[in-house]
Amino acid sequence: MNFFSDALENYIEAHTKPEPEVLKKLSRETHAHVLMPQMLSGHLQGRFLKMLTGMIQPVHVLEIGTFTGYSGISIAEGLPEKATLHTIDINDELLPMVKKYIKEAGMEKKIKTYTGNALEIIPTLNYTFDMVFIDADKRNYSGYYDLVFDKIRVGGYIIADNVLWSGKVVEDKKDADTKSIMAYNDKITADKRVENVLVPIRDGLMIARKIK
Ligand SMILES: C[S@@+](CC[C@H](N)C(=O)[O-])C[C@H]1O[C@@H](n2cnc3c(N)ncnc32)[C@H](O)[C@@H]1O
Repeated sequence: MNFFSDALENYIEAHTKPEPEVLKKLSRETHAHVLMPQMLSGHLQGRFLKMLTGMIQPVHVLEIGTFTGYSGISIAEGLPEKATLHTIDINDELLPMVKKYIKEAGMEKKIKTYTGNALEIIPTLNYTFDMVFIDADKRNYSGYYDLVFDKIRVGGYIIADNVLWSGKVVEDKKDADTKSIMAYNDKITADKRVENVLVPIRDGLMIARKIK
């Protein structure tokens, strides 16, 4: 989902560094062979995630929702030497494809994959994270936030995808996922332990920085 006209979207992408070949290939394969390919971050958001990691220079990043690996590889591109992206997905059928592209991107040392329910895996991860990217099932966004909060250093970032939910957050009829996203946005905005900004890129990214 994006909120710009096709012409503006093309202009924005034309004035953003191009997708690396490996991500173009991953995107093509996802669109050809995987259900719900629109879940993939894509060109603009991928470059934005890489830019963010380059700015934050995190040592440990957690991603909740690997899917076919597009956002994970984008995040890992911006990581400094010896930094690690830990990425979790419940769908084990996607793992061979994810591993193939991690290898092709030369990211085997930077990306560690975990397969299973993130709600069960997160408590087993003994790292202090500098950045967390939440992009899994929308109903658990608030639960993921609570689970990761104490594992993030002060000054670290929690970034959540799809927080505009195709614009449904301001429509009259609200389904369960929309209500969960809205509850997440309200929760972060009310939380005095973070400063936050909702960035209207693609389907909306909520960027929260832990300040205490
Ligand atoms: C929107 S996609 C992630 C897209 C990916 N971050 C990207 O931008 O390319 C959401 C993913 O979350 C995964 N997921 C859903 N529920 C989950 C859970 N409880 N634990 C871990 N992963 C989950 C799904 O299998 C799916 O692959």
